[in-house]
Amino acid sequence: MTNKPFAMNLWVSMEDPGARRSDESAFNRSLAAIAPIIRSLGGEPPSYTPYAPMRFADQVRVLIDAQVPVFSFIFGIPPREILDECRAKGIVTIGAATTPDEAVELQKANVDVIAASGFEAGGHRGSFLRAPEESLTGTFSLVPQVADLVSVPVVAAGGIADARGIVAAFALGAEGVQIGTAFLACEESGASSAHRRELLSGRAGHTALTSGFTGRLARGIKNQLLDAMNAPGTAILPYPLQRFLMRHASGPAERAGREELIPMWAGQSANLARHASAHELLESLVAGIPVLSDRLLARFQTRPDHHGMTG
Ligand SMILES: Cc1cc2nc3c(=O)[nH]c(=O)nc-3n(C[C@H](O)[C@H](O)[C@H](O)COP(=O)(O)O)c2cc1C
Repeated sequence: MTNKPFAMNLWVSMEDPGARRSDESAFNRSLAAIAPIIRSLGGEPPSYTPYAPMRFADQVRVLIDAQVPVFSFIFGIPPREILDECRAKGIVTIGAATTPDEAVELQKANVDVIAASGFEAGGHRGSFLRAPEESLTGTFSLVPQVADLVSVPVVAAGGIADARGIVAAFALGAEGVQIGTAFLACEESGASSAHRRELLSGRAGHTALTSGFTGRLARGIKNQLLDAMNAPGTAILPYPLQRFLMRHASGPAERAGREELIPMWAGQSANLARHASAHELLESLVAGIPVLSDRLLARFQTRPDHHGMTG
C-alpha cells in the first residue's frame, strides 16, 4: 500500500524463563485475580491450555524473505547471522536500548540505528542486559549518554509527544525520535475507542509500571485493573502466558467500553496527546519544530549573558 520505506518490529526474546515449565496450578493461581473481572464482564473464565511457543527465528525469516526495508527490534539482539543477512539484503536494523550498556552492546553487534528508550515510554520496558526494574533510565539522561557512547544514529523514545519533545531530543544528541503514545490516541491506531478517549481526556496523567498485563514490565494508565494486577499477592504468569490469559478480560472490557478494566497502555506524556488523527499529529510536529527552534535560537542570541555581553 505504500512506496515509502517502513519498519516492522519484532521481539527478540519472546518468552520468559519458566514459560515452558508453567503448569495448570500456576495458571489457576493467576486466573484467580482475573476470573472475577471476566465474570463481571459477563464472560466465563478460560480453562488451562498448554503453551504453544512462537519462535523469533520463524518470524524474522518472514520479514527477511519479504525484504521489509527496516527491521526494528526490542528485548535483545538477534543472532549475528540474522544481522549479517539483513545487511547483505540492504535491510536497515534498529535496536532498542534502555540503558547506555545496552546501546554499547547493540553497536558492537553492528546494528545500524539505536533507539534509546527512556522509562517514560508507554508499553514494555524492552531491557535485555539487566532486569527491567534495574533499567529505568529516563529519556533526558539516556539519550545524551547513548549519543556519547555510540557512533551510529540515535533515535530518542519515551515521553516525546509534541514538537517541544522533538527539539529537546535533538538537542540531547538524537537524530530521530520514536513516538508511541501520541499516535496510539489517533484513530488510525489499533487502540479501542475507550482507550483512545482516555488518552485524549486530559485525565491520563497518572501512569504506572506493571507486569500484570503480559508478564513483562510495561507502562499504562493507573486504573482499577492495573491496581489489581499490582496488588500484593497477585500471581503473574511468565511472558507470554500472562498476556494470553489477560486477553480473556481485555477483549470483553474493550468491547463493553469498561475503561477501568482495560489495559490502558500509555506513556508518561499521555496528557500531551492532543490529536485524534495521525495526519494532524504529524502536521503539528512538522509545523511546530521550525517555530520552536527559531524561538530558542533567538532566545540564546539576544539574551545578555552574565558578563553583560550579547551574541
Ligand atoms: C501500546 C504500545 C505498544 C508498543 N509496542 C512496542 C513493540 O512491540 N515494540 C517496540 O519496539 N516498541 C513498542 N512500543 C514502544 C514504542 O515503539 C515507542 O518507543 C514508545 O511508545 C515511545 O514512548 P511514548 O509512548 O512515550 O511515545 C509500544 C508502545 C506502546 C504505547
